Amino acid sequence: MRICVIGSGYVGLVTGSCLTGMGHSVTLVDRDGDKIARLKSGETPIYEPGLADLVGKARGAGLIEYTTNLNEGVKNAGMIFITVDTPCNKDGSANLSRVLQVAEEIGKNIDDFKTIVLKSTVPVGTTRLVNECLQKQRRSQNFELLTNPEFLREGNAVYDFLHPERVIIGTERSSYTKTLTNIYKHICERIIITNWENAELIKYSANAFLAAKISFINEIACVCEEVGADITKVAEGIGYDSRIGPHFLKAGLGYGGSCLPKDVSAMIATGQKAGCEMRLLRSVAQVNSDQRRKFVKKLSKLLPEQTGLAIGVWGLSFKPGTDDIRESSALEVIAQLKELGCLIKVYDPAAMPNFKLLHPDLHYCNDLYEAARESEALLILTDWQEFVNADLNKVGSLMKSKVIIDGRNIYEPDLMKKFAFKYYSIGRQK
Ligand code: UGA
Repeated sequence: MRICVIGSGYVGLVTGSCLTGMGHSVTLVDRDGDKIARLKSGETPIYEPGLADLVGKARGAGLIEYTTNLNEGVKNAGMIFITVDTPCNKDGSANLSRVLQVAEEIGKNIDDFKTIVLKSTVPVGTTRLVNECLQKQRRSQNFELLTNPEFLREGNAVYDFLHPERVIIGTERSSYTKTLTNIYKHICERIIITNWENAELIKYSANAFLAAKISFINEIACVCEEVGADITKVAEGIGYDSRIGPHFLKAGLGYGGSCLPKDVSAMIATGQKAGCEMRLLRSVAQVNSDQRRKFVKKLSKLLPEQTGLAIGVWGLSFKPGTDDIRESSALEVIAQLKELGCLIKVYDPAAMPNFKLLHPDLHYCNDLYEAARESEALLILTDWQEFVNADLNKVGSLMKSKVIIDGRNIYEPDLMKKFAFKYYSIGRQK
């Protein structure tokens, strides 16, 4: 069966490529002609481990086609995935205009039976709206509509697609799910069939819960700093309780990226619209933004008051394994360093080209040591493995003052003492 994937962003490209890896033929549709041209020329526009390899193989095997023509993609496919983005409106709610526009276009263009799968992250009630939108088109009575949220982590998206811990399929009739289940049954044993509303809420609740864990541990980290405790030990101790679990308990600069911040805001907006106060999630978002503000405050206290201080920065992406800088803590920290009049030298293994577009005036370094050279302080903003493995002797010998302010707790404070660094981190003692 040919599958059409509409939206060649991060989710669409990963979904389409992984489906070709499973032997399906895929047409990837995007209205952005430049992007389609780049894909056609063999370029992979996003950095994601394993993706370029999959795309290359699909091209070689003739399993993938790219087009800006939605009609063409829809006409030849038995199954259509909608993977367009749902950005944040000013009031925090999700913007559904792209999803609804695509639904309308699909509706106009289907003439034989189609399985339509909504994979975009959409607030509860959206699948019903998409259904109405499809029904309105005279020719489009002939379809089944499923909602199938994704749980892909950036940096692990290909692995996550091919090894899901669970697959959620929302439907009006469980008899409708066979085609999609047939695709997933080869890679997942836990396929949960439920209704549209549950599936939609599962996606948002999962991200909101992960965000809540991070804000929780960051709040406890604040207490740790004041009372002589160590947040990494506290997190380890609670994480062994299987009811709590060890994941998402790393204290640091808080959560960033294109998903957690946006989905927490959208969940709050959805809840409030439904008449619920959403007190907990509003605090989760507040703790997260305070966490960055506190780090920046710490910086201002630790750095001598003079302009032109040379500061090294390691890490610009919102997390390791990606070149994505959306809602990255580096954006706020760098803005503050600029205000303090610092000379900023940055290094990131993947995100420098993206960061350069927003901040062309920084000094971009060829490696992590160049960023440390002659610096009065070194800030660690992303926990890339390359930084964990750094030669600390070399780093110390290059720096003007051996001060490290670590927003991701990547080193042991005792080790840093041995290397004679002044080392500040989150929720631990100096
Ligand atoms: C998140 C979810 O983890 C995925 O399951 C989901 O599919 C995806 O959003 C989405 O909705 O598409 P992602 O945004 O790629 O994935 O990033 P995460 O790995 O969740 O990390 C988010 C942020 O939290 C990063 O800034 C990371 O540094 C921070 N984080 C994570 C912590 O500060 N502490 C932790 O313990 C874990």
